[in-house]
Amino acid sequence: MPVVLIGPMGAGKTRVGMRLAASVGASFIDTDARIVERYGPIPEIFAERGEPGFRELEREVVAEALHEDAVVSLGGGAVLDLDTRRDLAELPVVWLRVTPQAVASRLAGGGRPLLVDGGIEAWRRINAEREPVYASLADLTIDTSRRSVARIVADITGRF
Ligand code: S3P
Repeated sequence: MPVVLIGPMGAGKTRVGMRLAASVGASFIDTDARIVERYGPIPEIFAERGEPGFRELEREVVAEALHEDAVVSLGGGAVLDLDTRRDLAELPVVWLRVTPQAVASRLAGGGRPLLVDGGIEAWRRINAEREPVYASLADLTIDTSRRSVARIVADITGRF
């Protein structure tokens, strides 16, 4: 049975997912990493195909990942797709939240095309738009702002 991690950019989905998978002896899939392996860097995909083109590739990679018995971390916008939401309704879903204050330093590395122009203000706007969707899909919600990865993993394994 997979566990799926959703939430905004910088919430810690990849770091938590890797540690969670290791702690339960499951394999780990990061859908962004899979997209990069197959199609190249995300900023290049956005530049060449636009966001709609990226979402098409993402939908395909996510659908495949959700059928594997793994811990799966989804890109922040994957939940925009209605088929993906339908798949998620059947699975244990953890929403990793984070405050704008805590996220600012985590996003400093770049590589996120949606934040190139707007930075943290863009993050706030995008996160506010998506929060109702994350909330509607989540079986468990964890704020990662002030918790260690080990603690977050323990909270998830204690629940599922
Ligand atoms: C996106 C989040 C990114 C990546 C892409 C778009 C989004 O993933 O899929 O840049 O729309 O929120 P992370 O949430 O892993 O940063």
